[in-house]
Amino acid sequence: MPLMPVMLQGTTHHPAGLEPSPTGMACAARDLVRSGQILSIPRCITDDDWLGRLQGIVRDGLRLAGGDPALSRTIRLEEMHRHYSGEQIVRAADASIRQIKPLSGRLLKHVLRSRLGMEQRFWFDRRPKVRFHPPSATLEEDRQVFQDYARRRGHGKVDAHDPHLDSWHHCPVNSVNLWIALGRVTPRNGMTAFPDTHGRALVQRDHAHDVAGDQWFGTGVDTDLRPGDAWLFPGDLLHTSILNASDETRVAISFRLTFSKPYFSGSGTESFVDSRYADSPLEFWTLQHPADPIRGVVRHWRGPRRGPEVNRGPQVVHDHLEPLEVHIHEDGSATFAAEAMAPGTVRVLDRQRLVCRDLQGTYTVVGRHCPHRGADLAAAELNAEGLVCPWHRLVFNPENGSSVGHCDHALAANPCQVRHGEVVVPPSSR
Ligand code: FES
Ligand SMILES: [Fe+2]
Repeated sequence: MPLMPVMLQGTTHHPAGLEPSPTGMACAARDLVRSGQILSIPRCITDDDWLGRLQGIVRDGLRLAGGDPALSRTIRLEEMHRHYSGEQIVRAADASIRQIKPLSGRLLKHVLRSRLGMEQRFWFDRRPKVRFHPPSATLEEDRQVFQDYARRRGHGKVDAHDPHLDSWHHCPVNSVNLWIALGRVTPRNGMTAFPDTHGRALVQRDHAHDVAGDQWFGTGVDTDLRPGDAWLFPGDLLHTSILNASDETRVAISFRLTFSKPYFSGSGTESFVDSRYADSPLEFWTLQHPADPIRGVVRHWRGPRRGPEVNRGPQVVHDHLEPLEVHIHEDGSATFAAEAMAPGTVRVLDRQRLVCRDLQGTYTVVGRHCPHRGADLAAAELNAEGLVCPWHRLVFNPENGSSVGHCDHALAANPCQVRHGEVVVPPSSR
């Protein structure tokens, strides 16, 4: 029986209101994803043996990586960093990829057909992305091991990935991601997508595959998933990894697939298998013959984009990026009108500093660039939790600049006073 997925957009959780009939669900799911929505699928693989099977593969990977066999059978996967070294964790990730790869087609068919009622043909990348993200303190301890692994396998597997579209990383422009939690994934250690950017132009950083820093992404939607829950979302919806400031390892896998023939930007090179040949000898055979002797089985398209591009609209701009109008005084202090900022907003003071007005109305001057990887916090969200960096979602307390969670990154922060309707920025913060 197909499940009832939940559409997520912005911070609002809408009941999908989808027809639970297979065809109704299929169309609705496909259209939602096409229109830049995130489909949250509770208990996506929980109610059958797939969750236990995949968790078993991860446990087996830990055993093969040299751990205590008894421990690998009983350990909570979210605690793997307490018992296994960085070297063992990346070896376990590789072993898991090898074991899951031959099962990818069967698993995807199961999810799409049994869970979402989607009977139609699809195309998929056989290689699962195995995503073990230990807490950031562990990353620091084993920095070289994780850096080497990220160089080999790409960012986002064991470390935080900067905000990006998947087509910037050689994926089909029309791909969607099925992102499945194998352990508990929280807003402090999972991933974030930015629905407000859908259909807007995004500027890439020079010589990189990630977004340039001075853009506003809108309100991010963070994963909050139990083991076996999943998200289905478009690869070309801007998304990013959360810097793991929790004390648990995030354990997840993801797959890329398309609902029409995959098409690539100029640099695209990935092999996608036609679901008609999934889980049959032809699936393996055709991958050994990338020249594609059987038309329509595997495609290696290179060349100009075909079909519509989602991120071609007007560029995303926002008032946050406009500097405040300030008066500089002889003593080095600066003032601006208190009413220029509503509670819960961030504005640019100058090239190095921002002003935050928290939800209680308190004004603070903080450093403009995130101490983690230098994101421009002018585009940060300020919510009840604090100032949320748009790149990897580290949360700062705007009152004192400290980061929330198990991270020692901190911002410079200075309180401001309000006098006669004016906010006074003290000279010491300059
Ligand atoms: S959390 Fe990574 S740059 Fe801010
Ligand atoms: Fe991605």
